[in-house]
Amino acid sequence: MERLLCPSMMCADFDNLAAVTEELDKAGADIFHMDIMDGSFVNNIALGLGDFQTVRKHTGKPVDVHLMVMNPVPMVELFAKEGADIIYVHYETDPHIAKTLAHIRELGRQSGLVINPGTGYETIECILPLVDWLLVMTVNPGFAGQKYCEYVDRKILKCVEGKKEYGYKICVDGAIRAEKVKELSAIGVDAFVLGTSALFSKGDYKTTFDKLRVI
Ligand code: DX5
Ligand code: ZN
Repeated sequence: MERLLCPSMMCADFDNLAAVTEELDKAGADIFHMDIMDGSFVNNIALGLGDFQTVRKHTGKPVDVHLMVMNPVPMVELFAKEGADIIYVHYETDPHIAKTLAHIRELGRQSGLVINPGTGYETIECILPLVDWLLVMTVNPGFAGQKYCEYVDRKILKCVEGKKEYGYKICVDGAIRAEKVKELSAIGVDAFVLGTSALFSKGDYKTTFDKLRVI
């Protein structure tokens, strides 16, 4: 069972993003998670292009972008050019989501589909053949430090079932604590976005990663 640990860089210390990126890389981070917000789909703005370029420059590990933006295609093309390995688009932001997911693959990047806590597995099942990574929100998107939405766990079980048929990887995002890493990894979740709940201001990064790998 893979257990990919993905630091949520919107929660990082911005005094020295380059150094934090290198430290997290050395400590064992698997994928760097970059939240991009437009202040319209979500009532917040988080990271910008410059932040992405800094992280991209200071690690050879995969870097994703979690696009919390309406009308995402221009951002898809921008971040594909900037070297994002996985590009996540919210189902809720794009009436042509199937076309956009195919387009991400045509751009040579891994396609990512994100679903809000209120979006059902049945709603997205038909487009899962187009998905390399399924990001299941376990909080309503936009802010760090929220409470885990326990009702999403039933849906996660359905998404894990779907993995067998469609072959995508599953990542969860939002209020992921150590106990949730243990519980969800055991049922087949592959990757975990780690923010204020399990990684940042929790002490030494390598100690935290090492603990999360084995719990
Ligand atoms: C929420 C963000 C996440 C995450 C941050 O939109 O995408 O990065 O919630 O981590 P926590 O929830 O642990 O502070
Ligand atoms: Zn995110």
